[in-house]
Formats: sequence, structure tokens, C-alpha cells
Amino acid sequence: MPSLHGKWSLVTGASRGVGAHLSTALAQLGSNVVLHSRRLDHTRDLAARLAQTGVKVVTVAGELSDQRAVDDLLDAALEQAGAIDIVYNNAAIMTPYRENTWEVTAEDFRTSFEVNVISLARICYRLMPPMLSRRWGRVVNLTSGIKEQPELCAYSISKAAVDKFVRDFVPKLAGTGVQMNLLDPGWLRTDLGGPRAPNDPATCLPGALVPALLDDGISGRFFCAQDYAGLTIEAALTKAGRR
Ligand SMILES: NC(=O)c1ccc[n+]([C@@H]2O[C@H](COP(=O)([O-])OP(=O)(O)OC[C@H]3O[C@@H](n4cnc5c(N)ncnc54)[C@H](OP(=O)(O)O)[C@@H]3O)[C@@H](O)[C@H]2O)c1
Repeated sequence: MPSLHGKWSLVTGASRGVGAHLSTALAQLGSNVVLHSRRLDHTRDLAARLAQTGVKVVTVAGELSDQRAVDDLLDAALEQAGAIDIVYNNAAIMTPYRENTWEVTAEDFRTSFEVNVISLARICYRLMPPMLSRRWGRVVNLTSGIKEQPELCAYSISKAAVDKFVRDFVPKLAGTGVQMNLLDPGWLRTDLGGPRAPNDPATCLPGALVPALLDDGISGRFFCAQDYAGLTIEAALTKAGRR
């Protein structure tokens, strides 16, 4: 079983859905965790459960459409954890489904970019330079396989921007010990994915852990968590290594 003992992981949007599964899995691998959501009480029960596994757990809160709140939550995370080794930029919003495809609003674009792109970049800008100094870090940015749904384009275009952000960093990260990759968890029955989604949220594991555990120096990969559903972590890592 791989170990993340002694590392600190920050998971944004840890209170439910993918983030709660991920945080639990990271703690089970020995990582201390910083759990983020919009309100501290959203992660209180999860924090208590994870603390029972013996890892250190910190909770931080912040609305990701507010860049000052992003700075404040990062201050709080760093003050309590000291340093962050692994970041899952998992929190995101999906804008309303616009039946009239010609009427996706400017506000839809603005809010999805604030939460899904600008805050994600701000978190990377703050946490990645120290990772580069320490010559170790893993950044996993949640993206989506969504396509051909112009009714949701404010959301899907924000995820395309995340993909571009990650891929443009590839040359900068080569040989640094810091890896930044993309993760599509699959269409899951979470609050964001909705009840019609084909997959249970738990099926994001173990695939969601793969980009944090691989040590191949490669950035810019697009991991589909569903490719690894039903495998052990070891088998998932072997499959990811084979590519
Ligand atoms: N579910 C799917 O089918 C699917 C498919 C492809 C990609 N994804 C991606 O996977 C990631 C996780 O999705 P999910 O389905 O687990 O979502 P979810 O169940 O809706 O959970 C969203 C999480 O993000 C936090 N959050 C929401 N809006 C926020 C805001 N404005 N500021 C700060 N935090 C906010 C929530 O915290 P609170 O408790 O405070 O609300 C919650 O912890 C997202 O990046 C999503 O785009 C999901």
C-alpha cells in the first residue's frame, strides 16, 4: 500500500461529493488533511471522523468567488499546516442548465470563472512556488469530460480553461519534482452531477488518488478516474504507469 505519511494535503470542496471521498482516502494513506468548504460546520463531522484515523486534520472556510476569501483560507491553511504538499483543486460550481442555448448569461460565465478558474489559479500561484523550493509537490485540478452541451457552456468552458492552465505549465514543471495534472472523476451522483448520473461517487476511487501517488515527473496528463474503478490502488498505479 503506498503511503503519504507526513504529507499535508489540501482538498477544496471537501464537505461532500468527490471531495469527501478524496479526503477520506488521503487520510487513509496517512496524509494530514486540510478540509475546505464554504463554512467550517460543513466539514466538522468529516474532520472528526478523519482525526480518528490518527492523521492531523484542519478545517478552513472560504467562498471561492471572493478572491480575498481565497487569500484568507490559504493563510489559515498555511498557518495551521505549515506547508502544503498535495493540492486537490476540487471545489467547483456548475451553472444552471439553460434550456435556451442562446441565453447563457454573462453572470454564468463570470461566476463559473471566478470559482472554477481564477481561484484555482490563485491557489496554485500561492502554493506551488514553495513546492518548487522543496522540490516535491502534487497538484490535481478537477476537470470534466463534459462536451456538446452548450446549455452548460459557462461550466464546460471554465473546465477547458483549467485544462489549458495545466497544460501550459508542463515545460515549467519538467524536472522540478512538482507534478500538476488533470482529473475527471466521471459523471457521478453528487449534488453537482445530479441523480441521473450513472456512477456512485465512491467510484472516483482509487483513480482520483493516482495523480497524487504517481512519481514519474510527468505533468499535464488527463486522468479519468473511471478508468480505474474497481481496481486496487496498486493495480491502478500499474495501469497508469503503463499508459
Ligand atoms: N459530479 C460529477 O458528475 C462531476 C463530473 C465531472 C467533473 N466533476 C468535478 O468534480 C469536482 C467535485 O464535484 P462534486 O460533484 O463532488 O461537487 P459537489 O458534490 O457539488 O460538492 C461541491 C463542493 O465544493 C464546495 N463549493 C461549492 N461551491 C463553492 C464556492 N462557491 N466556494 C467554495 N466552495 C464551494 C462545496 O462546499 P459547501 O459544502 O460549502 O457547499 C462542496 O464541498 C468539481 O470540480 C466538478 O466540476 C464532477
